[in-house]
Amino acid sequence: MIYFVAAVAGIAGILFGFDEGVIAGALHLLRAHFDISPLDEGLMTAAVPFGALFGALAAGPSSERYGRRAILLFAAVLFIVGAMLSGLATAVWMLSLARLCLGVAVGMAAMVAPLYISESAPTAIRGMLVSIYQLAITLGILGAYVVNFAMGEAWRSMFMLGAVPGLALLLGMLVLRDTPRWLSLKGRRDEARTVLAKLRGVAQGDPAIAAELQAIDQAAHSEASHTAKWSDLLAPRVRPALIVGMGLFLLQQLSGINAVIYYAPTIFKEAGFDSHATQILATIGIGVVNVGMTLVGMALIDRIGRRKLLYIGFVGTALSLGMIALGAATGSQSLDVLAGIGLVVYIAAFAASIGPLPWVMMAEIFPLHVRGLGMSITSLANWAFNFLVVFSFPVLVSSIGLGGVFTIYALVCVAGLLFTSRLVPETSGVSLEEIERHLMSGRPFRQLGAAGAPRLAADVPDGPYDTEQHAALVDALILLSPYRSSLQPMAADIARIAHDNRQIRAALHVVSERCDFGGSGRLRRADLGAEADALFSFLDHIYYASPKFLGSVKEWPLGEKRG
Ligand code: BGC
Repeated sequence: MIYFVAAVAGIAGILFGFDEGVIAGALHLLRAHFDISPLDEGLMTAAVPFGALFGALAAGPSSERYGRRAILLFAAVLFIVGAMLSGLATAVWMLSLARLCLGVAVGMAAMVAPLYISESAPTAIRGMLVSIYQLAITLGILGAYVVNFAMGEAWRSMFMLGAVPGLALLLGMLVLRDTPRWLSLKGRRDEARTVLAKLRGVAQGDPAIAAELQAIDQAAHSEASHTAKWSDLLAPRVRPALIVGMGLFLLQQLSGINAVIYYAPTIFKEAGFDSHATQILATIGIGVVNVGMTLVGMALIDRIGRRKLLYIGFVGTALSLGMIALGAATGSQSLDVLAGIGLVVYIAAFAASIGPLPWVMMAEIFPLHVRGLGMSITSLANWAFNFLVVFSFPVLVSSIGLGGVFTIYALVCVAGLLFTSRLVPETSGVSLEEIERHLMSGRPFRQLGAAGAPRLAADVPDGPYDTEQHAALVDALILLSPYRSSLQPMAADIARIAHDNRQIRAALHVVSERCDFGGSGRLRRADLGAEADALFSFLDHIYYASPKFLGSVKEWPLGEKRG
């Protein structure tokens, strides 16, 4: 079910990519058909990102109020209307208006679709599922390149084809329900439970559902939750999320991706591809690498974590942009090859990392009560910097040359490394609610998932130790829990589950070493240190869930870590 949800919401990404990409191949046909002034051409091209700015702004408050699903339905209708109007346009102003309408839809969907997926996804594969959205964008771009190539002169049909995925989005969203988190936020707890059970593929009475719903409810109805205002985004506890979200989009866009996506045929022309067909074919090649490497990123994102993947991406893009800059600046024939390789490596590094990560992280870092508004502003940054790059590219090339421009983009990627190391938290394997608790605790955001913390089971040492001592330690821990009277009868089961779960076992191991538990046999709250939250949250979950379910959990999502 969750894959169906991600696939339907992902159609919005296809539309995003398609509407971005299709104008590139249609532009020369439009010039021939209409008498277009350069200003008209600029307005028509820019209408999509311009409309998207408004779409992104409107999507925040309206997705809070009317729900994620309602906004995706509305966007789907706009996609269909916009595509049909573009295809039927008899004047440039009509085409510009139609593209403005598409832009509003793109801006809304680009914010709400990742949100919709993120709020429906289980923690362990959330990153991969939200990346489906980025995969869809790249498929949309590739689709547009292929349609450009295949349809020849038929620009009206090119535009109208966009109505097909629009219709698919509409039908898909009609079948689906809103997210459990939004339903809980609106006090519709029963519906939230039904939807959650469907998403997880278990019965409504399943204890796992009760536990997850409890965590969602807690976040939705915490003291901090009230009707959100824009100014809430500047509150000291939320600001770190805003900085990370907007910063990642700034870096993504200023790394120059859309200069390449929009101007690829021109760049290939410069590189000596003579015919229009070979230029478009090479461009399609770029589109294919973009799609393929996004798949690689999806396989890695929950495994190696967000930060490592960002480092890889920024190193890869900085080096490859440097190669392009060198090739372009010297203008020598042999360096053309270097620039060509640079271009492919650049797209590959971008697609596996800097492409999906801002979308994924934007949907997970904001506390629930300001999530919609936070994502609005964050995706607004995406459109604003997208706009800036696409418009400044031709001007910059004519003033400082291609080599100069790509040097700037390379430097931005170097700055991306610093930004990642100083500010970006590790969110993989951490539930949305735990991310929120960390932010609200006022601790530095960057410390979430800090290095050295036992995170995924694979990173945790086995910590073999005495079973009896382990059981005694668990007994002592239970005594510190507010639910001790309910938990004590289950102590033996809890000890077994804690032992089978490598992360909890590792946390207990750390605690027992810290307070030399073997010696004293007594445990104080203070001995739990940074492990306290994880251990108590483990006990809380046991209290709400059945031991059978917990025994089947392979990886315990530790939110609060050492260090
Ligand atoms: C960016 C787009 C870009 C696309 C390329 C997305 O993540 O936001 O601006 O065109 O990646 O694949």
